Amino acid sequence: MAIERTLSIVKPDAVGKNVIGKIYDRFESAGLKVVAAKMKHLSRSEAEGFYAVHKERPFFNDLVQFMISGPVMIQALEGENAVLKNRDLMGATDPKKADKGTIRADFADSIDANAVHGSDSAENAAIEIAYFFAASEVYSR
Ligand code: TYD
Repeated sequence: MAIERTLSIVKPDAVGKNVIGKIYDRFESAGLKVVAAKMKHLSRSEAEGFYAVHKERPFFNDLVQFMISGPVMIQALEGENAVLKNRDLMGATDPKKADKGTIRADFADSIDANAVHGSDSAENAAIEIAYFFAASEVYSR
């Protein structure tokens, strides 16, 4: 299995709950390495640009509003099968449907305040990592 990268965001609800470290522990315990990281309070246009694919969806405005409600922790993760591995660690979008022991089951409150973002494909991961990090800010190891 090839080494892959994925883009992960600890969303404002989870940053507010002070569980960044607990979430990072899930990544590291699963063999994913943090190869880039920054804390950032996104502007409205940054959040809209990041979620542009959802702009026609009914939840778009609420999603953007939530994502700019406080700082987020943004990281690129690297490891075997990183995209799917991170999606498995995250659990289903709706925490009520997320498997026991997943990040969303343990730390999320609702489908809109759902603790983490993770890229859904290697192709989108490359786009999303480049959205937040210059190539020189990603430390492959
Ligand atoms: P989506 O890409 O479908 O989910 P995921 O984050 O699991 O890849 O949706 C992006 C975000 O939009 C999701 O994390 C939370 C928000 N959202 C809602 O607020 N309501 C909804 O009904 C859906 C589908 C998503």
